[in-house]
Amino acid sequence: MSANEPEPDSRAQPSDLVQVALGARSYDIVVGSSLLADAGDHIAPLLTIPRTILVTDENVAPLYQERVAQSLARHGIACDSIIVAPGEGSKSFANLQDLLERLLAGRAERGLTLLALGGGVIGDLVGFAASVLLRGVDVIQLPTTLLAQIDSSVGGKTGINSRHGKNLIGSFHQPRLVLADSDALDSLAPREMAAGYAEMVKYGLIDDASFFAWLEANGGEVLAGDDAARRHAIAHCCRAKARIVAEDEQEQGRRALLNLGHTFAHAFEAECGYSDALLHGEAVSIGMVLAFRLSHRLGLCGEDEGARMAAHLAAHGLPTEAAQLPPAARRRDALIEHMQRDKKVTDGRINLILARGIGDAFIASDVPQAEIAAALDEFLVAS
Ligand code: GLY
Repeated sequence: MSANEPEPDSRAQPSDLVQVALGARSYDIVVGSSLLADAGDHIAPLLTIPRTILVTDENVAPLYQERVAQSLARHGIACDSIIVAPGEGSKSFANLQDLLERLLAGRAERGLTLLALGGGVIGDLVGFAASVLLRGVDVIQLPTTLLAQIDSSVGGKTGINSRHGKNLIGSFHQPRLVLADSDALDSLAPREMAAGYAEMVKYGLIDDASFFAWLEANGGEVLAGDDAARRHAIAHCCRAKARIVAEDEQEQGRRALLNLGHTFAHAFEAECGYSDALLHGEAVSIGMVLAFRLSHRLGLCGEDEGARMAAHLAAHGLPTEAAQLPPAARRRDALIEHMQRDKKVTDGRINLILARGIGDAFIASDVPQAEIAAALDEFLVAS
């Protein structure tokens, strides 16, 4: 794809189908419109028994719960619902326990399929519940945010947060299907859209400079709700993620590239108490800026590359400077402590994703902690 590639121009284009190739556990990601309204058509052929439990949150339920349930009913599929509180705070032990108890109280049985309708929090929480309920039941992901559609609903990472850090308790549990309905993005607040956009930019930064250039030319349309542009971009990101997951499902190697900016981001989020003061995508935006700054500091990457990516993120409403972080997330020692407890620490060394330039990220396992601290200091002092 090049920056000059003509944009797809029809709202009525057929859905895109992306396969995540994992042998017997392979599944499709469908990207299109009206997918929630037609969910039953896609879900019915996959069910062992015609019984589902849909889990969603209080914000999403009034918008789409009925739409999905009616579509399932047309196929004779039962659909009970469980509604949880919105927000990252729901990814806790207490809420996982409550969800599992409610599922069991609703006579959960093997053969049942859970439907995760919502953003990344719902996908992670319900995916994890599905992986342990009755030693594992099927889950279908119905992501309603940009971030969930292009990243968290795909690839089987599930989990909750601990007071020691984000996503430190979880499992790999692949869904049976992902339905990414672009219509759902119409109800998304601009701030949520922008947060998801940070993860979209990430795909360009990792290994796809031409996609980054396409976003420079077309990112405005994606965020403004141009359906052809956003579907094109969502399907592109899902193809990229599907390739990486098929190659390295359990993050033994290449999948770690998807963590660009995330070690910094998780530390910022933890310091904000996983609150709405800083959305995950916003934390990732600043984390990616820091990863490029650190890469420059280590002589790996030209300063202009970092400046170009930061300018693009800022132009699309994302934070890129320390002054845009909530004060709680600017405490250097606490941030470093969080980074040392991240999942990406091996043998006491922080594994980071660094970059030689836009579209050329790599896994670095030997970054001196003093350099990481110095890059953080430089960044925070500028606030
Ligand atoms: N969100 C990063 C991954 O799925 O590996």
